[in-house]
Amino acid sequence: MENVRATRYVLPLREGGSMPGLMEADDDGMYVVKFRGAGQGLKVLVAEVVVGLLGRAIGVHVPELAVVDVDAAIAKYEADEEVQDLLDASLGTNLGLDFLPGSFGYDGSRTPDAATAQAIVWLDAFTANVDRTWQNPNLLWWHDSLVAIDHGAALYFHHSWPSEAPDPGRFARQRFDASTHVLAEVAGPLEKVAARHPEFAALLTPEVLESVVAAVPEEWLETTEFLPNTAAVRAAYVDALTARLAEPAAWLPGAA
Ligand SMILES: Nc1ncnc2c1ncn2[C@@H]1O[C@H](COP(=O)(O)OP(=O)(O)O)[C@@H](O)[C@H]1O
Ligand SMILES: [Mg+2]
Repeated sequence: MENVRATRYVLPLREGGSMPGLMEADDDGMYVVKFRGAGQGLKVLVAEVVVGLLGRAIGVHVPELAVVDVDAAIAKYEADEEVQDLLDASLGTNLGLDFLPGSFGYDGSRTPDAATAQAIVWLDAFTANVDRTWQNPNLLWWHDSLVAIDHGAALYFHHSWPSEAPDPGRFARQRFDASTHVLAEVAGPLEKVAARHPEFAALLTPEVLESVVAAVPEEWLETTEFLPNTAAVRAAYVDALTARLAEPAAWLPGAA
């Protein structure tokens, strides 16, 4: 991921709960920034990176990701008190997503082809992302492309890590409920999604899984009693994904 420095806070994007903000950076780019100090914690940023890069690896359109550095001067000149508190709590590295100007939220009035929908349903099933429903589609149309955003709710198994040893087998067997997925209908029968598992699994080689997890900035990885260093935390993500990839019948709806 590219590293940039934030130069200006432009405006808040208050749709969801996490208060992402639009920021300008020193590469003249505009980024939707997910803040480390936003309350949901660092694991949400980790999930955004891991799932975003997995998505890109299987051909799902996900905005380009970047690490956005926020320094104290930016926070100091922010007039809105709530935003100032958020920036003050977010000094250091945050997650940036390339801002897609003119994009608009998915509402079903225009639908993607079945193959695109199948890839997104498969990605969400694989990463246990429950946050792609009609209430919260987290899909944007941008030009002629359907773009997947907001993957912070995926990989929820990591929320249990502070209190117990990782159990990759348990995640591997957790069935995904695709019935409320916003693209369930467009993707067609779930057997068609399941039939594409070998194709997606072949793209997610051990090297790809390693490199996706390696892209997570070191300081976002939280060690625990059971995962005493960041290498162990990274390995736990790779183990969980590897185990799940190998056992689709247990979690992938429509798989025999
Ligand atoms: N890369 C992007 N380009 C343009 N708009 C975006 C982008 N990412 C998010 N948004 C807008 O910001 C809103 C909130 O982003 P999202 O990632 O869903 O965060 P959350 O739901 O956690 O607040 C989205 O619904 C969308 O309108
Ligand atoms: Mg959202």
